Amino acid sequence: MITRTLLLFSAIICLAACQSEKKEILYPKTDLATAPLIPKPIKTVATHSAFGLDSTTVIFTSTQDPAFEKVGQFLSETIKGKLGLDLAVNASNGENVERLIYINQSDSVDLETPESYQLYIKKDSIFVNAKTAAGAFRGIQTLRQLIPEKSNDTLTDHPLWLIPSGKIEDAPKFGYRGAMLDVARHFFTVEEVKKYIDILAYYKYNTIHLHLSDDQGWRIEIKSWPKLTEVGSKTEVGGGEGGFYTQEEYKDIVQYAADRHMTLIPEIDMPGHSNAASLSYPFLNGNGKPLKPYTGTRVGFSTFDAQKDTVYSFLDDVIGEIAAITPGPYFHAGGDESHVTKKKDYIHFVEKVEKIVQKHGKQMIGWNEIAQANLDPSSIAQLWNESHSAIKAAENGLKVILSPAEKTYVDMKYDSISEYGLTWAGLIPVDVAYNWNPETYVEGLPRESILGIETPLWSETISNSAELEYLAFPRVIGIAELGWSPAEHCTWEDYKARLAQQVPYLNQMEVNYYPSPLIDWEKE
Ligand code: ACM
Repeated sequence: MITRTLLLFSAIICLAACQSEKKEILYPKTDLATAPLIPKPIKTVATHSAFGLDSTTVIFTSTQDPAFEKVGQFLSETIKGKLGLDLAVNASNGENVERLIYINQSDSVDLETPESYQLYIKKDSIFVNAKTAAGAFRGIQTLRQLIPEKSNDTLTDHPLWLIPSGKIEDAPKFGYRGAMLDVARHFFTVEEVKKYIDILAYYKYNTIHLHLSDDQGWRIEIKSWPKLTEVGSKTEVGGGEGGFYTQEEYKDIVQYAADRHMTLIPEIDMPGHSNAASLSYPFLNGNGKPLKPYTGTRVGFSTFDAQKDTVYSFLDDVIGEIAAITPGPYFHAGGDESHVTKKKDYIHFVEKVEKIVQKHGKQMIGWNEIAQANLDPSSIAQLWNESHSAIKAAENGLKVILSPAEKTYVDMKYDSISEYGLTWAGLIPVDVAYNWNPETYVEGLPRESILGIETPLWSETISNSAELEYLAFPRVIGIAELGWSPAEHCTWEDYKARLAQQVPYLNQMEVNYYPSPLIDWEKE
């Protein structure tokens, strides 16, 4: 190890010293400062030269934390997918290295948050410095965005991809940057969820929240209560066949997200939005009406029985099984639109569920209605429709996730001709989704109470990746920037020019984005 590190450092020194012996490549002027990065980094200094990425480039990483090596492998795989280049990771001892990318664990005090990173790009070396592998992972997303699709074949006798040189210092505005996918109204396959995660990771999201149950379907295997999937998973909006994830499949999604340094948050919505669960086990039902499978789009008609002990034993099993296969710190208990639950029952229910969630080692998140209950400050309220409840939650010491429907609900139509989407929170064109400041959006909500932002995608009108992508993209990309970049960097004119240049990536990923007429999309 020591020998390798020494050789590596001598290789780096040689990169500088041996420069004159090599045939000098005269790079054309490039400009890091105008690169179309999203989210826009805090600080960028251009040095107007370039790193020439080619088949001789090697990737090295710090080896004391194996997670850094995995970041190096992720970078290598994505470069292979994009350019066809196969770059070795930690494969040699550093001898005869001409160009290298070093992903370095650093204790620099300038790296203030776990996701902070520095990116130093010179002619023959790229350094990504981060305290944690999560920071390194965010840093390599920036690097990926700087790699052009097209090589410059005039500089050398082999293809060279020019990465503009300079220095980037970056850190997120919020520690929580999430996207929610409703897999209950319509079911989405493991592969469809993974594709969404992939694109979210590219724009530095760190959380994927899956809405796993609703009136129209139950989507996760619970071994102690098998009818939840035998009965409750068989429906979806519009009468399709539904579906569910086995626990093995769920763990696979969790791992896929974790490999991208994203936390998965499972949501079981309750006491309302629970028709599919009660249909599977009728003792859960608290609204006294006969149960039928539901494939429409109304809300607010179902409730668990908040007075029965057996309901809480059931929830103890369900939350326990899900918590056991969820490494992240959170469990989302829903809590929205329980219109047929009496207020006192609702409060009793939420307070009891909070204790069950805590018993299984998780922090409870709930939609903003939960602020009516007397909750522990470790719980989190997710604002979607009532600013006053976010303020109340904050007054009680809870942190708040901002998902105001009129800005972040990307299941709303863009405009009157949108193919998919709803309209109850208004039309949300691409600029409306971008033009707001999460730090000041809720008057009276202290900045320190804001955990972060999340963009929910409800699936009443969408049922596959193409439709999901039509609603999510490009709006989800702008919300990524609002979650990461300082407010002074979030200006529409500047953003929209950078967004227009995402076309090569979106096309490479075969993303069915909505080509909003507000954007002058780059022609490929
Ligand atoms: C919600 O949109 N009912 C949280």
